[in-house]
Amino acid sequence: MTRLSRREFLALVGAAGAAATIAVPLGVGFRGSSSTGWLLPSHLPLPLSFTRPLPVAETLAPTRSGPLEDVYDLVQRAGTAEILPGVSTPIWGYNGQFPGPTIRSRRGQITRVRHLNRLPVPTVVHLHGGHTPAEHDGYPTDLVVPAGSPTGYGSGGGISLGNRDYIYPMDQRAATLWYHDHRMGFTGATVWRGLAGFHLVSDDEEDRLPLPRDDRDLPLLIADRSFSSDGSLAYPSLDPTLLHEPGVQSAFAAGVLGDVVTVNGVAWPYAELPRARHRLRLLNGSNARRYRLALTPPPAGGGGLVQIGTDGGLLDRPIAHDALELAPAQRFDVIVDFTRYPPGSTITLTNDYGDGPTRNVLQFRLTHTTPDDSAIPDRLSTVEPLPTTGAVIRNFTFTQGNVQPRPGMPSMPGWLINGEAFDPDQCDTYPTLGQTEIRHLTSDLHHPVHLHLSHFQVLGRGINGPGPYDHGWKDTVDLRPAEDISIAVRFDTYTGRYLLHCHNLEHEDMAMMANFTPVA
Ligand code: C2O
Ligand code: CU
Ligand code: CU
Repeated sequence: MTRLSRREFLALVGAAGAAATIAVPLGVGFRGSSSTGWLLPSHLPLPLSFTRPLPVAETLAPTRSGPLEDVYDLVQRAGTAEILPGVSTPIWGYNGQFPGPTIRSRRGQITRVRHLNRLPVPTVVHLHGGHTPAEHDGYPTDLVVPAGSPTGYGSGGGISLGNRDYIYPMDQRAATLWYHDHRMGFTGATVWRGLAGFHLVSDDEEDRLPLPRDDRDLPLLIADRSFSSDGSLAYPSLDPTLLHEPGVQSAFAAGVLGDVVTVNGVAWPYAELPRARHRLRLLNGSNARRYRLALTPPPAGGGGLVQIGTDGGLLDRPIAHDALELAPAQRFDVIVDFTRYPPGSTITLTNDYGDGPTRNVLQFRLTHTTPDDSAIPDRLSTVEPLPTTGAVIRNFTFTQGNVQPRPGMPSMPGWLINGEAFDPDQCDTYPTLGQTEIRHLTSDLHHPVHLHLSHFQVLGRGINGPGPYDHGWKDTVDLRPAEDISIAVRFDTYTGRYLLHCHNLEHEDMAMMANFTPVA
């Protein structure tokens, strides 16, 4: 297997000295601001909000469906998208689309996704939230090198030439998962260009509930972006070819924040909806931006966003919120009962953490009233607390630190877990299958901490219990400045090498990842 050593990786990180794009500080700086990152301003006039309809990504039809597995085919390729009205933007997408097509799997039915890489760079596909064997999890050095140029990247166990089959057992609860690129050092740039899509899992338990479905079940990928004057996506990569030097210009090492909010690939769309209950599957697909989403105006009596699920599927009971805070990569499944508004109402999904145009997200315009036999049951599922007596305790710190590119070169800003930069060849954590672990996570700034393989439960924040957005099975937790969070997790089923990392994609690309290897 060909892998970059830590030294080679850091050498690559440090090899560039591209002219820095001007970064605009957001708010008063990191502490006390809502996101850790710097605003990258667009260089074209921003459009008015709510002039174009909300698209919903098509569901990908299986190439083949059989008793053993369902097979899907995706081509990773360049395409164009109309993200801003009248502007054609080059993107990289699954089937050339941003977001990629939505894949729908049934619990227990094996899903094989065959990816063909027609992009000019190697890629890696990760199913975020998937309970997946290590060799199909999309480890950041398990590259799929471009079809047609299968040389120069080495070969061996982790490397595939041109295409790769990812096999997902889907032995997991119904949940809103997503798939995205995960190449070491380049994830921020390639996800920004469009390599992300939904992968929804359904099961019998969820089907038995009278939740809104079909047209009234809307997956919403929310992502901020910035644009250059020619309409292309702006991103401060060290290497614009995305081939050699990973990471971003030092000015943006804290994270890249866009000034355009897109939903399902369109800037500030509107949706005309019948006046009935709708299920909104909210995904924060942004690199670094956090959102605080609210309905404006709120319905009389408040509590308009009724959360039924999160990263790992259904909660045990619904929770009514006035607002929802979403860190990058988190999912919140909510029901909005639009019959609480008068016919003909216009309601905006706003972002309390935004400034100017980034305060707007999406607008709902209610059309006719339709019969609605959906309901929000008091009891959704069973979420048993993980037993924690006898748990193994581990501590993880998430902090800024300089990474030394190589001896003799100046160091540059990067991000560390337990004081160390990511090294694919180094593993310090070997959880035992079936053994519960309590992990204490502490931070300097905002670090959305994500665990591959298994969902976890938030036990508490500091001396307090879980926060209002911490309920249920999570795979990403919103760790905020100078905070400490305890989570409980247990790894079952699969051994092999997996990742714990920060899902601020610029932090991830600048070394804020660590391996863990469950052992039997
Ligand atoms: Cu969504 Cu390892 O990431
Ligand atoms: Cu993941
Ligand atoms: Cu981070």
